[in-house]
Amino acid sequence: MSEDQESILRVDWDIPRKIYPPKVVTLASGEKLVIREIERGEVPPILEAIRPLLTVEKDYYDIVSARVYAELLGWYRYRVKNEYCLIGVVNGELAGLVNNRLVNEKVCMSLHTLALKRGGRIGAHLFAAKQEHAIENYSVDEVWVTAESPIGFRRWMVEWSLQPRPDLQHELGGVTVYVLTKENYYKLKPQKVFGERPVPEELYKESLNPKIIIPDIIRQQE
Ligand SMILES: CC(C)(COP(=O)(O)OP(=O)(O)OC[C@H]1O[C@@H](n2cnc3c(N)ncnc32)[C@H](O)[C@@H]1OP(=O)(O)O)[C@@H](O)C(=O)NCCC(=O)NCCS
Repeated sequence: MSEDQESILRVDWDIPRKIYPPKVVTLASGEKLVIREIERGEVPPILEAIRPLLTVEKDYYDIVSARVYAELLGWYRYRVKNEYCLIGVVNGELAGLVNNRLVNEKVCMSLHTLALKRGGRIGAHLFAAKQEHAIENYSVDEVWVTAESPIGFRRWMVEWSLQPRPDLQHELGGVTVYVLTKENYYKLKPQKVFGERPVPEELYKESLNPKIIIPDIIRQQE
């Protein structure tokens, strides 16, 4: 492909990008979950971590993995606008990831949450962190959320008391949108958004090149 064609096809950020300030959350187990934003160049090892999940039907890991895989690849290959991805690292291992896409400066599309290490509410903390980034740092008015799995529905719609907005369509296939407003976010923040800053240097370093583990859900199947 000529450089000219690539410049037509290529999309990137068209609103000012802000980097998520990393934080550390202490899990109920006492383990430390470091949450930080990744750069585009870090996408390939994350895809490697997701790949084994593409065929795991249990708890809808297959559909969520396939979609998040495509979204991250789209960002890596400059085919998605305004996307960010946060990862969660526990004991130097990749424990989960989340991504969102800013539609514009007012609306954020909540994309996916994937817990690789389960049972510690890591997905719940990561979900809270990506919405924290959208509302507190990007200052959007609304985050549009949807769910592809019953656990996701319980975690987001029920636990965050999100309100359905049938007049809107989510970009994930037009399924029902539930809206997290700025006002609701700040109301729920004390019960949902945890973590401390800054992250101690050693812990932060450990999160830079996380080990790719075989996700619990695959181990359970073996
Ligand atoms: C939805 C999701 C992100 C939630 O992550 P999480 O907050 O870390 O929660 P877990 O998956 O560990 O646990 C959820 C439930 O499954 C059960 N569970 C599953 N595996 C478990 C394990 N190994 N140990 C303990 N509990 C487990 C628990 O009972 C827990 O119930 P709870 O709600 O009472 O805590 C995660 O389940 C996931 O990645 N699912 C597949 C993809 C998906 O559905 N994403 C969301 C799309 S809307």
